[in-house]
Amino acid sequence: DRRLGILAIDGPAGAGKSTVTRQAAHALGLQYLDTGAMYRAATWWCLQHHIDLTDEVAVVEAVAQCRIRLDSRDPNQPSQVWLNDQDITAAIRSLEVTQRVSQVAALPGVRRLMVQQQRQMGAQGGVAAEGRDIGTHVFPEAGVKIFLTASSQERAKRRWQELQEQGQQEITYEDLLQQIIERDTADQQRACAPFRKAADAIEVCTDNLSIADVIDKIVHLYRSRYPQA
Ligand code: CDP
Ligand code: CDP
Repeated sequence: DRRLGILAIDGPAGAGKSTVTRQAAHALGLQYLDTGAMYRAATWWCLQHHIDLTDEVAVVEAVAQCRIRLDSRDPNQPSQVWLNDQDITAAIRSLEVTQRVSQVAALPGVRRLMVQQQRQMGAQGGVAAEGRDIGTHVFPEAGVKIFLTASSQERAKRRWQELQEQGQQEITYEDLLQQIIERDTADQQRACAPFRKAADAIEVCTDNLSIADVIDKIVHLYRSRYPQA
């Protein structure tokens, strides 16, 4: 339904985009689109095939072979991700993928392939998409744009807590903070569709907000623009 429009949510790592967007999408009857999962899937594929990530032609050729499928029906779980029919949901969250994804995502040929698929998925409207360039580049016409932020310390703390809960205790808070800052900087400094706030995006700082507060705020903003949602 085109009248349902598009909800665009951009922000840095650990701002709460995935958690909040999938719940808001569920509440609003929109389809959830995790574009970061697509860049992670493409990166996983290149690592798996030992592609030289500095060779743009080779990377783009490899990524062009990726048939990525996302299943986002369960609002309490991250999207399930399939690549050429292999379930890679867990594999794309590995440290290795996390450390390489910004390098792969900086390549214009890779972005062209991903953005083309994302626009197809949103062509009929009714989509809540999260990433780094949704409001600025993928769906500049989106009816509601949110720029979700939190301090880098708070974001590193959230990631650290997540890893503790998963029983992964080998990485320190300081390492996570360093990684987050490096990835933010790489995403902001790339030439092609760099990560930045769209001029018409509403900034929501989540430092002192609960997840439920953030979801309520976004659902409210969306319904004030699309009362039928
Ligand atoms: O969940 P987290 O914030 O760690 O990252 P993500 O949303 O899964 O995105 C992983 C990486 O993909 C980002 O650091 C960017 O390098 C890239 N990305 C992008 O370039 N454009 C998007 N629309 C989404 C992600
Ligand atoms: O997708 P993104 O990297 O932006 O963040 P996320 O993976 O959705 O959220 C990172 C962590 O922060 C999760 O463990 C959330 O439960 C937590 N979070 C929070 O503590 N407070 C919020 N207001 C939002 C998220």
